Amino acid sequence: MKRFRHSVIAATMVAVVLTTAACSRHVDDGGDAVGSSADSNACTSPIKTFKLAFNQTAEHPQYAAGITFGERLMEETGGCYDIEVYPNETLGTQASVLNNISDGSIELAWVAGGVMEPFNADFVVFNLPYVFDSIESEIATLNDHDGAMYDLEHSIEESKRITVLTGVTAGTRNVYNSTRPIKTPADMQGLKLRVQQSDSQVKMIELMGGVPTTLGLGEVYSALQTGTLDGAENNEVTWDAMSHDEVAKYYSYTRHLIMPDYLVASTNALEVMSEEHRAALMDLIPEVAQVANDGFADFTADSLAHAESIGALVNDDVDIDAFKAVLTPFTKESINNDARQKLYDAALANNELYPAK
Ligand code: GCU
Repeated sequence: MKRFRHSVIAATMVAVVLTTAACSRHVDDGGDAVGSSADSNACTSPIKTFKLAFNQTAEHPQYAAGITFGERLMEETGGCYDIEVYPNETLGTQASVLNNISDGSIELAWVAGGVMEPFNADFVVFNLPYVFDSIESEIATLNDHDGAMYDLEHSIEESKRITVLTGVTAGTRNVYNSTRPIKTPADMQGLKLRVQQSDSQVKMIELMGGVPTTLGLGEVYSALQTGTLDGAENNEVTWDAMSHDEVAKYYSYTRHLIMPDYLVASTNALEVMSEEHRAALMDLIPEVAQVANDGFADFTADSLAHAESIGALVNDDVDIDAFKAVLTPFTKESINNDARQKLYDAALANNELYPAK
């Protein structure tokens, strides 16, 4: 089966103008694109607009990255392909959208690492506690498309028809709740905490001392408001952008996860593109990832400032060693096959290059 390779252009060089795929066609006022019959790169008619599902707000850097992706794809395919980004979970939860990606009814989506596990359990590696020491280490690992990431990114193309285009950072995840700051695992006892629809996340919260509930992101706010949940765990951006900080104001820096998000595509949708258009799309991926990654640090700082301005309380007095003691055996025992070991080793190597600050 044909695998769609990424550009060899490093992410840092993406500002260099990319070669435009030749596309001699005409877009009329109605938006239909008509190619010359001799041109294998001509548009199908009408112009194809890919849906990109996103579960958060239009302020998020992944939304901006999706918009950039669409604009650049229009340029690089001479107007044959466009992307429309659907924010705020309007196309469904990440777990359900992945089924649409698989059957080809949605072409693109941003999804969290946790919800990839049912499709290939080896995705668990970067969803395990305390694997990455820094976001820089995470990004370096995820950008290694032709090395450490290659097998994982293409692992479910044949079986599930899902192609992973890239991973990006989704920051550092910490615990928040409506009742108290968390300093040690003892403070987690009895807290009902939301996790992603993922076995590893359920197990992780149990080991930390909490009571996990799996839910799509969009349902968390009302569950916190009604007291069905005491809290959740997430990055600062999501805690604030989803207004969880209004109802769960104690945010504690457990730093238990640096878990990626992935930009995934329907393999079927990629396969029906001409080779030139598909190559143009793949060549854009480092640029798209860079927009998402570059925007994340500023958005995190702004989110934290906003949360504090509305009265949220941030606690950085956390016994990280105590959390590591209950969680790292789980991480180690989950690295139980060669594929996982290879990914884990790549993370450890990058931790040497990019240690915690
Ligand atoms: C983060 C991540 C999202 C994910 C969310 C969640 O915000 O970026 O992709 O959906 O966590 O916990 O569901």
